[in-house]
Amino acid sequence: MRSGIERLFNPTSIAIVGASRDPSKIGHKILKNIIDYGFRGKIYPVNPKAEEILGFKCYPSLASIPDDIDVAILAIPATLTPSALEEAGRKGVKFAVVIASGFREVGNFELENMLVKIARKYDMRILGPNIFGYVYTPSKLNATFGPTNVLQGNVAFLTQSGALGIALMGYSIAESIGVSAVVSLGNKCDLDDVDMLEFFGDDENTGVILIYIEGLNRGRAFMDALMRVSLRKPVIVIKAGRTEIGRKAAASHTGSLAGSPVIWEKALKQAGAIQINDVETAFDVAKAFAWSPHPQGDRLLIITNGGGAGVQATDTLAEKGIELKPPPHEYVTNLKALLPPFASLANPVDLTGQASEELYHHALREALQHPGIDAILVLYCQTAVTEPTVLAEKILLTLRETEVKKPLAVGMVGGGETRKAISFLTSNKVPAYPTPERAANAIAYLLIYAKIRENLARKLSII
Ligand code: ACO
Repeated sequence: MRSGIERLFNPTSIAIVGASRDPSKIGHKILKNIIDYGFRGKIYPVNPKAEEILGFKCYPSLASIPDDIDVAILAIPATLTPSALEEAGRKGVKFAVVIASGFREVGNFELENMLVKIARKYDMRILGPNIFGYVYTPSKLNATFGPTNVLQGNVAFLTQSGALGIALMGYSIAESIGVSAVVSLGNKCDLDDVDMLEFFGDDENTGVILIYIEGLNRGRAFMDALMRVSLRKPVIVIKAGRTEIGRKAAASHTGSLAGSPVIWEKALKQAGAIQINDVETAFDVAKAFAWSPHPQGDRLLIITNGGGAGVQATDTLAEKGIELKPPPHEYVTNLKALLPPFASLANPVDLTGQASEELYHHALREALQHPGIDAILVLYCQTAVTEPTVLAEKILLTLRETEVKKPLAVGMVGGGETRKAISFLTSNKVPAYPTPERAANAIAYLLIYAKIRENLARKLSII
């Protein structure tokens, strides 16, 4: 699958048309992010009223730049965009990134169609309009007016919504989730989800794709691409506009037709996508995929110090169709000697409220090393017996000592110290969450995706 848009993500030269002198304006912020994030290619601000901006020579027009331009970011009002696009086309620019709002989403179909017509005439591709720009961390490119310090990682986040997307850039930083890309798709007058799926499906810097969608332009092509990509990497879809009133909101937001939720759900499922409709869970799951190996089987073990947390996790898993099997006999025998008589050695394994970090260490190490256990969920309810941060350090040490790579999620419930422990684990790329349900959901989707992949492989080899 070749998407033909590699140069958009690996440009050698970028022009910012509308690079404002005013630090509060979007064109200024985009230029500043491109510079501050460390883009190594050539940067050309364009503004007829300025000589120099942020230490870079400023050009009065695209035509006056003495170089070829791969990408032109247009950060000027909608009505001025067609003439700038014409100029970009004449210059031989390959990709135009149109930031402005004021097109189809407000009923200005004609203006948007004009952009498409101009782009076609010059064989140029358009990202947008009505977007906040895009990030591709392997190229050290942050061409957005969002946060600068995006973390590098392997999650590609594609979003039709600008405001939600830009906010989630900040959320991903707070959650220590590294991204390969963040792409604002907006009205999708040309480049759309299909082009992006094809690119990121092939992209070796991307391990997980997370898409926020309100509506699609090319439903059939999207589902075909989704199926091919899902075979190789997980694709998480947040589908917005699932209710009548939500559909109306989507229509006035990005001008999208959101479609029937039942048809969507069925089609996404058939194509192998992981549909998760709430943003928090979607990012929780993306984090687990980003940092975990694929499970070798579906034998999940829960280790907990609290029965209630274990039951909540068991329910969450059961609701997702994941059944817990009893732990392997040798594992139980090995652990029994260290546990009080009232401990439960079924699955969940309840180490009891008096469990020390040493007991967790032992239970986790044995689980990691046992070939009859494929994935592990560690739960902890804050007690005075074991400090959360001490336990978090112990979990990390155990993972490093054993060097066994198995999917694992940690749920730590409690006060401020538990939050510190969770941050410590996530900053070390261990998926950790503040409730048993969130941790259980994260690990559940790893197991679900393993099944999806198996089914897709079977289906595609039959076709
Ligand atoms: N070539 C080069 N520079 C130009 C041109 C041109 N043809 N025309 C104008 N400029 C310069 C201006 O002089 C100005 O520079 P200056 O401030 O140094 O004088 C700069 O370009 C910007 O032009 P303005 O007219 O000041 O435009 P402004 O910055 O106010 O707005 C923008 C432009 C941001 C594109 C606006 O029209 C817009 O659409 N904003 C909404 C963006 C948005 O929300 N996108 C959607 C998703 S993101 C989200 O939802 C959070």
